[in-house]
Amino acid sequence: MRRVVFNQKGGVGKSTITCNLAAINAAEGRRTLVVDLDQQANSTQYLLGQGVAGSTPTLADFFSEMLSFRITRRAVKMFVHPTAHEGLDILPAHHDLENLHDKLGAKYKIYKLRDALEELLPGYDDVYIDTPPAMNFFTRSALIATESCIIPFDCDEFSRKALYQLMADVSEIRDDHNPGLRVEGVVVNQYNPRASLPRRIVQTLREEGLPVLNAHISPSVKIRESHEHASPMIHYARRHKVTDEYRALWQELNGTARKPRKKRVNGG
Ligand SMILES: Nc1ncnc2c1ncn2[C@@H]1O[C@H](COP(=O)(O)OP(=O)(O)O)[C@@H](O)[C@H]1O
Ligand SMILES: [Mg+2]
Repeated sequence: MRRVVFNQKGGVGKSTITCNLAAINAAEGRRTLVVDLDQQANSTQYLLGQGVAGSTPTLADFFSEMLSFRITRRAVKMFVHPTAHEGLDILPAHHDLENLHDKLGAKYKIYKLRDALEELLPGYDDVYIDTPPAMNFFTRSALIATESCIIPFDCDEFSRKALYQLMADVSEIRDDHNPGLRVEGVVVNQYNPRASLPRRIVQTLREEGLPVLNAHISPSVKIRESHEHASPMIHYARRHKVTDEYRALWQELNGTARKPRKKRVNGG
């Protein structure tokens, strides 16, 4: 399964959700690739730490060489890096992606990511794609290359209104380029169920027919610590409440949500 984590707004949890879902996916024994399309490279830093040395080939090198016809899509394997976690690899980002953005758009390279992923797919069960906070060339490439899209949402009223434009953008890509593209759901991040405003906003989304997922992620400083340690929650804090929430989200997305276990009766 190929999944894009997308919202034009920054700071809503795209990179955090991408990496934590991917880390759980790999820990479940599925060969997992993360693709970091954001020039800020937050997912890259989260998964590789300081491991992205200046000489490390990144997605920026891939796109750059592709522009000058020095490589074919087959060569994309050269740009994949293993992480410290078994079964979890990454195509890292680099800030040079920003410089390449306009050239790639002008030369109609919008299908190159999809083609490159097709080369890599035999080696992976699942791909998680992190996107920049904009509906730009890289985000469009990702939405063309994917089967599904997950939308992190931060319970803000402005963000709620922006969701309708976002859904329209996804529909347009579906109509023009990718008929199989589906929105798997809206993930409510930093959700505080005790405050009434977030509750009301989420209820409004549901009433308006948006596919809000049941699993939500609470606010937690532990997540920021896990970024600092470049270690996704399942490795950094296995038994933390938020780790359980990421697991529940993963299970909901993968259709493996477990029914609550029945209490054992004596002798049973
Ligand atoms: N559930 C959460 N609780 C606390 N902090 C969070 C949570 N999710 C994300 N963050 C923090 O919010 C910031 C933005 O998250 P990030 O995943 O980088 O968003 P985006 O990729 O959408 O810009 C980061 O500093 C991250 O550590
Ligand atoms: Mg990000």
